[in-house]
Amino acid sequence: MKGILLAGGHGTRLAPLTGAISKQLLPVYNKPMIYYPLSVLMLAGVREVMVISTPTHLPLFGQVLGDGSAWGMRFHFVEQAEPRGLAQAFTLDPGFHGTEPACLILGDNLIYGSGLARTLASAAAAARRPGGGAAIFGYPVRDPRAYGVVEVDGGGRAVSLEEKPARPRGHLAVPGLYFYDGSAGERAAALAPSPRGELEITDLNRTYLDDGLLSVERWGRGMAWLDAGTHESLLEAQNFVRTVEQRQGTMIGCPEEIALRSGWIGADDVLRVADAMGDNRYASYLRWVAGPRDGPAEAWA
Ligand code: G1P
Repeated sequence: MKGILLAGGHGTRLAPLTGAISKQLLPVYNKPMIYYPLSVLMLAGVREVMVISTPTHLPLFGQVLGDGSAWGMRFHFVEQAEPRGLAQAFTLDPGFHGTEPACLILGDNLIYGSGLARTLASAAAAARRPGGGAAIFGYPVRDPRAYGVVEVDGGGRAVSLEEKPARPRGHLAVPGLYFYDGSAGERAAALAPSPRGELEITDLNRTYLDDGLLSVERWGRGMAWLDAGTHESLLEAQNFVRTVEQRQGTMIGCPEEIALRSGWIGADDVLRVADAMGDNRYASYLRWVAGPRDGPAEAWA
């Protein structure tokens, strides 16, 4: 399955933080923001990822992420000259995904919780089946007006989808993580721009809904979904990561750890990253990850 990581946009809601740097490279506690969605793709088993950003910022992503080989992955960097909506991701370089299934994630979404890897694996397996349709998620939030909103019936089936409705039909917001079968490219190419001139991801998802091919999994209380698109939510995300990491002594969104546990790289590769980093907490965590792992993580000991 191919991965698409959307890290474009002007980050205007985070100005002046984004005057010189891409939103998705801002720190979320001890890692660049993009590490978190990238880790979700990795947990879904995705090793080939198209990273989309503005022409100005794209080279920075190359600098931060490299070509992917350090993590047993492959990155393909693609420019989005003008942000014309999330579904535009499928039309920028159609050769990348062709008619293969794909997982799209937004570069400012942080997802963490027990059972996440299992959820991702089952959504990926469904999308991989021919004609498997699309899988989205529903997350209860107090005020869903800033999001895509999915309405479900008593059996948990999607009934309607709306983008940023003024009067939402329910509380289930749609996180920026989407699994698609191989028809997403063709569907995205046929979309008409919305009144605000964008190819809306919600419109792409609605084509699957209309064809009876959209599944929705509702995330429960044990799952944390945060986006980091405003000053408040960025700080909340930072505090969340710090709190969980300090308490458990393990990291959220550490690509080296996921790659090692997935068998994509070896302990030596992890140590190489640590050595190149010098001496800091992240590096000592990596040394713990690469070692026999008895006792608490060295970084937090
Ligand atoms: C986008 C999508 C929206 C989704 C949200 C998740 O909105 O359009 O459907 O719920 O991401 O973060 P944005 O926040 O980019 O305006």
